[in-house]
Amino acid sequence: MNERILQILLDHQDQFISGEQLSSRLNCSRTAIWKHIRHLRKQGYEFEAVPRLGYRLVKVPDKLDEEQLAKLLKTEVMGRRVHMYETVESTQTAAREWFSKGEGEGTLILAEQQTAGRGRLGRKWHSPAGKGLWMSLILTPRISLHFAPQLTLLTAVALCRTIHRMSGVPIGIKWPNDLLINGKKVSGILLESHAEDDRLQVVVAGVGISVNMGETDFPEELKDIATSLLLETGKTANREELLAEFLYEFEQLYQLYHERGFAPIRALWEALSISIGRLIRIQTHNGWVSGKAEAVDEMGALVIVQEDGSKTKLYAGDISVI
Ligand code: BTN
Repeated sequence: MNERILQILLDHQDQFISGEQLSSRLNCSRTAIWKHIRHLRKQGYEFEAVPRLGYRLVKVPDKLDEEQLAKLLKTEVMGRRVHMYETVESTQTAAREWFSKGEGEGTLILAEQQTAGRGRLGRKWHSPAGKGLWMSLILTPRISLHFAPQLTLLTAVALCRTIHRMSGVPIGIKWPNDLLINGKKVSGILLESHAEDDRLQVVVAGVGISVNMGETDFPEELKDIATSLLLETGKTANREELLAEFLYEFEQLYQLYHERGFAPIRALWEALSISIGRLIRIQTHNGWVSGKAEAVDEMGALVIVQEDGSKTKLYAGDISVI
């Protein structure tokens, strides 16, 4: 029904079509038409509505175009198979389902919108329609489970390099994997692994990038801490281009990791980090820890030097700069 309403309004973009005309052409009530228009608005369509005249379509949302993405791809494996959703609860869950149906290394799950996007530490991830890149990559790396955190840092490096190259804005990584522009988060990464015994079966690398979100696209509680590429650069970004570049960068680093191990990734991560060398604090199971963030170790843990000179390693959590 949504598509039929859209088709009529698209065919008459220069004129108003009344609710009555729509309801008689589509053989449904005017209330049903109104509900469909409301649904379409949530998906990013914009209508001018004038009493007694009806509706006129004024803006069609930016849609991710799979064909366009395929043309831009420079990878061998990453993103060569894609499952695309208009709306999904979480691309992470969908990716796990696709993996159990036989999908493997490099398959990409993409959604225009997530209704239950997941963030780290049990948080929600705000993923409105048509304005971001909400994606999960299926990975089957030849490593054991305890090395999986290294892939989180690898993903952050790939994303940071891509965004910097494409947008030109200064961007850095806050440990372990938040990407910050001017102190605000523009992108988050969530890696979920599944292992049997110590054997890694699959890693689902979830990436969220707030690409073309305007100020009103963020809920009140995120306005001071989150940003988008549009807000930082003043320009709308081409999402397919950004995605193709990220997949390429990711694939290059992933190959490097398999050939040369974590050391080169770790060096790149440290160079892009905004946490290293800073005084930070973090809440752990054993209370608050504060000190200077010195390095990431060979496993991807953050090494903190406390005031008394003792060293602590952090594997997860949220740090704040003091
Ligand atoms: C974080 O910074 O807390 C991680 C956010 C990860 C969000 C992405 S969006 C695509 C994928 N699907 C999800 O449900 N989460 C990740």
